[in-house]
Amino acid sequence: NIESTLVLLKPDAVQRKLCGEIIHRFERRGLLISALKLLQLTPDMAANHYAEHRGKPFYPSLVKFITSGPLVAMVLSGPNAVKVVRTMMGSTNPVEALPGTIRGDYATIMSYNIVHGSDSAANATREIAIYFTKQEIIQYDWED
Ligand code: CMP
Repeated sequence: NIESTLVLLKPDAVQRKLCGEIIHRFERRGLLISALKLLQLTPDMAANHYAEHRGKPFYPSLVKFITSGPLVAMVLSGPNAVKVVRTMMGSTNPVEALPGTIRGDYATIMSYNIVHGSDSAANATREIAIYFTKQEIIQYDWED
């Protein structure tokens, strides 16, 4: 079941210069980079990405943080990529995230949790379209 998922290395990861280490983990796991860019989100893009959280108490600070500086957006592909990435990231609340997960190794604060990964294949499709055109996504060999 080859899937693609959207991963963000949030502004805190860029600021703390953790992007290389985190990308390295995904590559070592066997996921392929199908698209990758650095960009700063506009408020409109943030609102689109986080539409399901609109109205929640943390929403204004979430949008402020996610638009505060450049982030790295990637499409990662491979067998069950959505679940593999979610497992590698650890719990949304870094305090609950196990050592060995990305959040468990690099984060302690919910609002600054370093990475985002789509929570379902349907959301991956929706989220990927916010960041990338079809031409920017390159599918290639899985086996070597
Ligand atoms: P993410 O997976 O990017 O999706 C929504 C983000 O909101 C989440 O990671 C957290 O970084 C952030 N957030 C901040 N406060 C909360 C909260 N109380 N509950 C859930 N998510 C929160």
